[in-house]
Amino acid sequence: MPQRPLATALAGRLRRRLLEWYARHGRSLPWRATRDPYAIWISEVMLQQTRVETARERWPRFLTRFPDLRALADATEQAVLKEWEGLGYYARARNLRRAARALVAAGRERLPQTAADLARLPGFGAYTAAAVASIAFGERVPALDGNLVRVLARLLGERGDPRRAAVRARLSAAAGQLLSTRRPGDSNQALMDLGATLCLPRRPRCEPCPLRAACRARALGLAARLPRRPARRHLAHHHVAAGLVWRGGRLLIARRPGDALLGGLWEFPGGKRRVGETLAQACRREVREETGLDVTVRAPFLRLAHAYSHFRITLHLFHCEAGPGRPRPLGCEAPRFVALDELGRYPFPRANQKALEALRRSGVWRPPVRAGGRRA
Ligand code: ADE
Repeated sequence: MPQRPLATALAGRLRRRLLEWYARHGRSLPWRATRDPYAIWISEVMLQQTRVETARERWPRFLTRFPDLRALADATEQAVLKEWEGLGYYARARNLRRAARALVAAGRERLPQTAADLARLPGFGAYTAAAVASIAFGERVPALDGNLVRVLARLLGERGDPRRAAVRARLSAAAGQLLSTRRPGDSNQALMDLGATLCLPRRPRCEPCPLRAACRARALGLAARLPRRPARRHLAHHHVAAGLVWRGGRLLIARRPGDALLGGLWEFPGGKRRVGETLAQACRREVREETGLDVTVRAPFLRLAHAYSHFRITLHLFHCEAGPGRPRPLGCEAPRFVALDELGRYPFPRANQKALEALRRSGVWRPPVRAGGRRA
């Protein structure tokens, strides 16, 4: 495995060109105006699965709510999830809080300064550790995200699959050669910007690229085809039935247990339809399994499509009337009937939020009225 995929003199020239380009054309982003390692950490975690335009809005909001490590460590998980609502990949929010708590519990009010030490904290993968260490603390480590992989695979003319360890090691070594000694964080961010603005996945804009002269993919006419793209995965699809279970003017909600997907967030009880069931039957069974309540399924309310990282769902919501008794935490946590104007206090995942918005818009912002004027 080559230690230095790029000739030393060439790497030096590219390093300088990259920083010159960044000074002129780098994006002006709010987290680049701070030197606070905590704020930089939050930005890097947010940016991993969230678009830059969304992060522009949500990053300052998060910092206003949780301005430092201690504020984050002192917050409840629910409060952090609520602030993260709509951003998806909620394990990121749970891990942010966990890492803050681990540091504060160890008597530290600051983040450790090296990628190796950061990588021991919850939620810090290789990328986040390297991004924070280089940007906040000036450590010379490459932060290999999707953009960097693309830029470097093209620069090296790398035809191997970047998911292979040996290929990644070559890309990482080349990225390391492109990092300035004094401003490695800027070099990493310059490569990110190159990937986001010029070295685009399908239509690379090579003319203005500062690495153009050295780019092997460009010389070979392969720029748009590298790196090798994995075959598209077929995403599994499920039909999910859930109940808008009314009692008086209140709706039943429950918290998803544990650390799994969407754990700690609230939702309308429901789950996957089984083979041979109608959606209404699935709704009734799921509500009973999760909360012990028997419901009468009334009218279908809404069908919506939603994609998660590894599967897609069609969510079918039904208006339901709760039978007697208190809801119990069987397959969920803390089930409860909540007044409509209190729903906003709870963090909901995106698909359930969409349902809430539809409910507000529909004017059924109260139980639907059955024929005869009684509320269903
Ligand atoms: N994506 C991840 N980190 C980023 C950063 N610091 N600037 C822009 N985009 C990013």
